[in-house]
Amino acid sequence: MNDHDVVLRTLGLTKTYTDFWGRPRVQALQPLTLQVGRGQVYGLLGPNGSGKTTTIKLLLGLLQPTAGNAFVFGRSPGDRGAQHRLGYLPEETYLYRFLNATETLAFYGRLFGLDARTLRERSDRLIDQVGLGHARNRRLGEYSKGMARRLGLAQALINDPDLVILDEPTSGLDPLGTAEVKDLIVALKEQGKTVLLCSHLLADVEDVCDRIAILYRGRLCEEGAVEELLVRSNQTVLTLDQPDEELLAGLRQRLGSKLLAEEHPRERLEHHFRHILQQADAQSADPTIVSSSAAARSEGSADS
Ligand SMILES: Nc1ncnc2c1ncn2[C@@H]1O[C@H](COP(=O)(O)OP(=O)(O)O)[C@@H](O)[C@H]1O
Ligand SMILES: [Mg+2]
Repeated sequence: MNDHDVVLRTLGLTKTYTDFWGRPRVQALQPLTLQVGRGQVYGLLGPNGSGKTTTIKLLLGLLQPTAGNAFVFGRSPGDRGAQHRLGYLPEETYLYRFLNATETLAFYGRLFGLDARTLRERSDRLIDQVGLGHARNRRLGEYSKGMARRLGLAQALINDPDLVILDEPTSGLDPLGTAEVKDLIVALKEQGKTVLLCSHLLADVEDVCDRIAILYRGRLCEEGAVEELLVRSNQTVLTLDQPDEELLAGLRQRLGSKLLAEEHPRERLEHHFRHILQQADAQSADPTIVSSSAAARSEGSADS
């Protein structure tokens, strides 16, 4: 890979957390060397405690490494020029309870020096994109965990970053929310952005990542293109349209011991789930949403 196309690079990046007296306590990251290219969706996977968040914090300059180096757009972590080109969704979303979605994005947008018009347009688009259009004027204190996560995502994108770093983006989201986050990541990739995605939920990353690294107890166990790691190129699956028993019997005989498995293809549960919800949407309006005038009346009566 050309140096110019490397967005993230770590060289022997190491972190040992120390206690108050500077004595080593947890070896969170063993020397880690990897690189993420422009336009890639890169998955950093591993069970809880394997060093994913530590790696991200080192890349952001929020932690100092014990040894080794990290580079973001060829610069040191924390460099202001690099910082402006990246968006970050932390593992925990911290939001101001008394602001609404628009006000929150306005707050972060102003930190990046966006002018009022750009800010307005971008914030409206992002709020719709993360599926919070119906809740844009509600105080965040009323948000569910999943809604807060969605707003966190919008916040991470307010500066239209070239690199997006997402730490467990689907935590707290229902299957539909998870699927929408995946769609969003695919959309970011189509816009040419680079995404570093951390997760312990393998199914969440399998569909969207180009490359993955597997961390375990702070050590890199495997790294590579998803295609190469998961595709069994020495086997082939054929799917037949309404084959009759005679055709199948003939095939079985012809194939002999080459035939390893025979089964009906199965729809993935997530796909099925989305389909059922879409059907329900098409059939009727959402019965959980009370019309706004009725809602105002019932709020009024609750107060009195
Ligand atoms: N501030 C800290 N002080 C001491 N140990 C920490 C600190 N943060 C994380 N750790 C430890 O470092 C290891 C890796 O943690 P982390 O990077 O958060 O993992 P992951 O994000 O993969 O769940 C864990 O053993 C964790 O307990
Ligand atoms: Mg973590």
